[in-house]
Amino acid sequence: MTDFYTLGIETSCDDSSVAILKNDREVLVNLISSQIDIHTLFGGVVPEIASRKHLEAINPLIDKALSDAGLTYEDIDLISVTKGPGLMGSLLVGISASKALSLALNKPMIGANHMQGHICANYLTHKELEPPFISLVVSGGHTYLCKVNSYTDYEVVGRTLDDAVGESFDKVARKIGLGYPGGPKIDKLSKEGNKEAIDFPRVMLEKNSYDFSFSGLKTAVINYAHTQEQKGIEVNKADLAASFEEAVVDVLVAKSMKLLRETGLKTLAVSGGVAANSRLRERLKEELDKEGMELYYPDLILCTDNAAMVAMAGYLNYKNGDTDSKFMKVYPNLEL
Ligand code: KG4
Ligand code: ZN
Repeated sequence: MTDFYTLGIETSCDDSSVAILKNDREVLVNLISSQIDIHTLFGGVVPEIASRKHLEAINPLIDKALSDAGLTYEDIDLISVTKGPGLMGSLLVGISASKALSLALNKPMIGANHMQGHICANYLTHKELEPPFISLVVSGGHTYLCKVNSYTDYEVVGRTLDDAVGESFDKVARKIGLGYPGGPKIDKLSKEGNKEAIDFPRVMLEKNSYDFSFSGLKTAVINYAHTQEQKGIEVNKADLAASFEEAVVDVLVAKSMKLLRETGLKTLAVSGGVAANSRLRERLKEELDKEGMELYYPDLILCTDNAAMVAMAGYLNYKNGDTDSKFMKVYPNLEL
């Protein structure tokens, strides 16, 4: 059997990434060019800058990915590119590169859903993982709890009604002056704080729903910080970070466990940038161990945005009979 190579391209937000997947689940290269330094100066991602940086990075990355893998353009069998969700201008860069390659090489291309990509990241780290399972996808822009029925069938059971989890980490971090991106900084600082110091709300926990809401929690944290400032009391940032993180983790863990019990499924796969959070990992492990259930999350590098996960998602869709035309559009608001 000849080998099948998928070139993955990811440019949905502020990381330009190109990867090459060999057959099913073998990552040959996964290059990521981060723009974090420039966006940090502005306290968050600036869309206009992001698309310009993608434009500079994308072709050299494709060349380097091929040379690192010891392949040539002709060896590529499929091009898989993120078609959404994400920033319009950023997505356009990856999609244009993909269309150009597809036309020039006369090879098929497929537009992958970035969120499906996050779920598929788990297949790359865990070769034995197979559907069905429950997936908790927690990123900077999205929060989904879903049933993965097959490699191409995703049933969303819960989603955020307002802020995404990562977004709330970023906003709280900014409020207490930790900088961008806030998730890793809160994760680190929380370890020095008391998670029971402040009793923040566990929003939506009481409701018999799998949906999430994090904007109320973010407001509660910001109000707390303001009130302390007005009283002239210095906020203990570590306590605040730990208490906020615990409130988020409580809700994510409770809803994931509820869905596992209700569906009778025994496997939870967590992914997206917030899957890197150490307290979330610790708590989920505790809870799942108690019930003899399995917990999966991708290698750290595959938790945040990367093209290997996009290649994986595209490959699965292609094997399922899908392709996209060279006239494919951009889908900034694409849902899972
Ligand atoms: O999946 P991702 O790389 O990009 C999107 O598709 O949004 O996720 C980025 C998000 C950011 O909000 C970042 O603060 C958060 O993931 N994040 C974390 C951690 N590492 C990254 N949040 C909590 N704890 C972490 N260790
Ligand atoms: Zn992402």
